[in-house]
Amino acid sequence: MRRDAELEERLFHALKATALGRPCYAFGSLPSTMDVAHQLAQAGTEEGSCVWAERQTAGRGRSGREWSSPSGGVYLSLILRPARGAVEVPQLALVTGLAAARAIHDLTGLAVAIRWPNDVLIDGKKVVGILAESATDQAGRRYVVIGIGINVATPVSELPAEAGSLAHGATPPPSRFSVAAACLRHLERLYGQWAVDGFAAVRPQFVQWSGLFGRLVKVTTGQGTLEGQTLDIDEAGRLLVRLDSGLVRAFEAAEIRLLR
Ligand code: BTN
Repeated sequence: MRRDAELEERLFHALKATALGRPCYAFGSLPSTMDVAHQLAQAGTEEGSCVWAERQTAGRGRSGREWSSPSGGVYLSLILRPARGAVEVPQLALVTGLAAARAIHDLTGLAVAIRWPNDVLIDGKKVVGILAESATDQAGRRYVVIGIGINVATPVSELPAEAGSLAHGATPPPSRFSVAAACLRHLERLYGQWAVDGFAAVRPQFVQWSGLFGRLVKVTTGQGTLEGQTLDIDEAGRLLVRLDSGLVRAFEAAEIRLLR
């Protein structure tokens, strides 16, 4: 796993408008950018540093799933060192999903919708996946690695059936570097708002870009599966669902499938 100096130079120029994404350690291929970002964070690497791979051979998604990572996508992991409480840290995945949705919309004009907690969909197909993993470094400081995967120029034939790609909707798709730069720009702004005022400050924007409310969904948690109607997102980033029994429940972590 050798760093690619030429790629790092190109990324340096592409990402120079933001503090997030610098420095960016870039590789042609990695098993997963998450692992390298954790190693760097463990050793004390500063907030904003990022790891980029052109391809991943063992890209990972939420709930132990695989993340298909052929050439043509954005695969990056960002190190953050938030000062907010540990219970609020999972909200960063929602904040990042919002940043990615805004970035894609800015660059393509395509209709994007966030499927809580942080999938970005175009025409019902998932084009962005976000993975947030927190841990403690060797000095005992908490950090978060935010993994961002975006199918930009990826041929859909190389992706799972439920996935989409910007190459499908926007012809030609924007460059991967411009997608990453726009995403990090939005994230820098949103992360700043979240850092000062918490998720409550980001919630109205998140709600505006969510494509879920009033829909019948299947909610799967570690405890099992329930069905209900999505109502809202609360100020802690939890999804409020009216269950078939009439009870309203707030979910902190779950997988959502739209039924209607
Ligand atoms: C999901 O929706 O399940 C999350 C997918 C996260 C994928 C990204 S790609 C960059 C980073 N490296 C990984 O191995 N995973 C994340």
